Amino acid sequence: MTTQDELRPILTTEAGAPVADNQNTETAGIGGPALIQDQQLFEKLAHFNRERIPERVVHARGAAAYGTFTVTADVTAYTRAAFLSEVGKETETFLRFSTVAGNLGSADAVRDPRGFALKFYTEEGNYDLVGNNTPVFFIKDATKFPDFIHTQKRDPYTGSQEADNVWDFWGLSPESTHQVTWLFGDRGIPASYRHLNGYGSHTYQWQNEAGEYFWVKYHFKTDQGIKNLTQDEANKLAGEDPDSHQRDLREAIERGEFPTWTVQVQIMPAADAANYRFNPFDLTKVWPHEDYPPIEIGKLELNRNPDNVFAEVEQSIFSPAHFVPGIGPSPDKMLQGRLFAYADAHRYRVGINADHLPVNRPHATEARNNSRDGYLYDGRHGRRKNYEPNSFGGPVQTGRPLWAAVPVTGATGNHEAPSHAEDDDFVQAGNLYRLFSEDEKQRLIANLAGFISKVSADRDDIVERAIGNFRKADADYGQRLEAAVRELRKQQ
Ligand code: HEM
Repeated sequence: MTTQDELRPILTTEAGAPVADNQNTETAGIGGPALIQDQQLFEKLAHFNRERIPERVVHARGAAAYGTFTVTADVTAYTRAAFLSEVGKETETFLRFSTVAGNLGSADAVRDPRGFALKFYTEEGNYDLVGNNTPVFFIKDATKFPDFIHTQKRDPYTGSQEADNVWDFWGLSPESTHQVTWLFGDRGIPASYRHLNGYGSHTYQWQNEAGEYFWVKYHFKTDQGIKNLTQDEANKLAGEDPDSHQRDLREAIERGEFPTWTVQVQIMPAADAANYRFNPFDLTKVWPHEDYPPIEIGKLELNRNPDNVFAEVEQSIFSPAHFVPGIGPSPDKMLQGRLFAYADAHRYRVGINADHLPVNRPHATEARNNSRDGYLYDGRHGRRKNYEPNSFGGPVQTGRPLWAAVPVTGATGNHEAPSHAEDDDFVQAGNLYRLFSEDEKQRLIANLAGFISKVSADRDDIVERAIGNFRKADADYGQRLEAAVRELRKQQ
C-alpha cells in the first residue's frame, strides 16, 4: 500500500464493519454459485432496490436552491407576520422550480407551467408559498384537479399524452381559456428558471396587529428579464440537453451570478371583495393592475445550491397550508382543496416524519408538539412528555388564531363559486389576446393549431368545442385559429 492509500478510510457495511472485498462476490468454490453468507452483496443490492421514493404526482421534475428574502418596504399596516416586520430584515428561503406534467426524468424545455414553490424559514415557523409562473390556473374548483391532470399525463391505453384528452377536457372546461391562451403564448416555454416570474396565483389573507385583514396577491418579477424559447428552439434544446433549466440554475449560482426577483403584492381591503367586478377568489382571473397596483415589498435572491439533490430536492416538501401568524387562506375553492392535498401527498411520498428532514424542518425556530414516533423517527424529543395538558412544562397554545375569521352565509351544498358583475370565462382571455403583438398572436395561433390539429380525425366535435372557447374570447382569435387548424388537418 502507498502512503496515500493508508490515509484513506476503510470501506464498511451499513453496520460499520470493514469490507474485505468490494469487487468479487463470495462463491462456493471458483466459478460456483453465490453464498448467502455474502451479506455485503445482499445489503448493497437490497439498498439499491429501495433508492427511489414515489415521484411527485405532478411537478415531478424540478430543481431548487437556497436563498435570502429581504424586506424593502414597511408592510406592517397590512400584516403582523414577523418575517415582514422591518425594512432590511432577512429570512432564509428555499425555492423549488418545476414543470408540471412530465415525469422525473423528463426534459426541462417544454411547454408547461413552471412551479415556483418557495419556503421562508421564519422565526414563527416555515411559511410556504406554492405558486407557478402564471398568475392564473386552468380550473377553479379543486374537485376537477385529478381529472384535469389525468388529461395532461399518460393515457391509460396508449401510455402517452393524447391531444384528444387534453382538448376534450379544455373544450368542456371553458374556464381554462385564459390560462390556455397564456400557456400557448410566448411565456409558455421559459428559457430558464432564472428568466421567469413567480406568482402566488391564489388570493391570500394578510392580517395586521390591529386585527384588520386584507386580500393579497404575490408577484415575483425576475430581475434577469423574461426570456422565452420558441417551440422550435425548445424542441431542439429538449433533445440536446434535457436538463437545460436545472443545469442553468446550478451553474449560474456556482459562478456567483445569483438570480434575484423583485417581490410585489397587490392589496385589496377586505371590504372591497364583495362588490369587486371579478370574484377576487377565482383562480382563473387576475386583478387588473389599474384596480390594485402592485407595490414593491422585497427582494429574493438565490445564492446556494443544495449539496444533495435527493435529500434536499426530491425529499423537500411544500404545503400551501404552511402559514405563519398574520397570513392565512382565502375562500378560493382551489386553494381550499390544496390545503388538504399537499400534506397528504407528503405523508405518502416521503413519510410521516417528512417535516423533520433538514431541508423541511424550521431553521429559525423549532417544532414543538406531542406528535411522536412513526417510520424513521429520530428520537429528537428524548425524555420529554408527549401529551397536553401537562404540568411538566410542556409547550402551550397561544389562544390567538393565525389569521382573521371571515364571515360566511347560506346553507351547505355543492355551490358554484359566486359570479361577480364582469365574471365570465372569456373576458380576461380576450383581453390577454388583444394585448399580444401581431407577431405573438401569430406564434400563439401556430402553437395552438399545431396541437389541436393532432386530435383524432373522427373527433371534429372536440376540435370545434376547443376553438369555440377561443372564438368566445375574441372573434378574430377564433377565426384565425379555425383557419389554421383546418389547413393543418387538410395536410394530414
Ligand atoms: C386543487 C388543485 C391542486 C391540487 C389538488 C394539487 C396537488 C398537488 C400535489 C399532490 C402535488 C405534489 C406534492 C408532493 O408530492 O410534494 C403538487 C405539487 C405542486 N403544485 Fe399543486 N395542486 C393543485 C393546484 C396547484 C396550483 C393552482 C398551483 C400553483 C398556483 C400548484 C403548484 C404546485 C407546485 C409548484 C408543486 C410542486 C411543489 C414542489 O416543488 O415540491 N398546484 N400539487
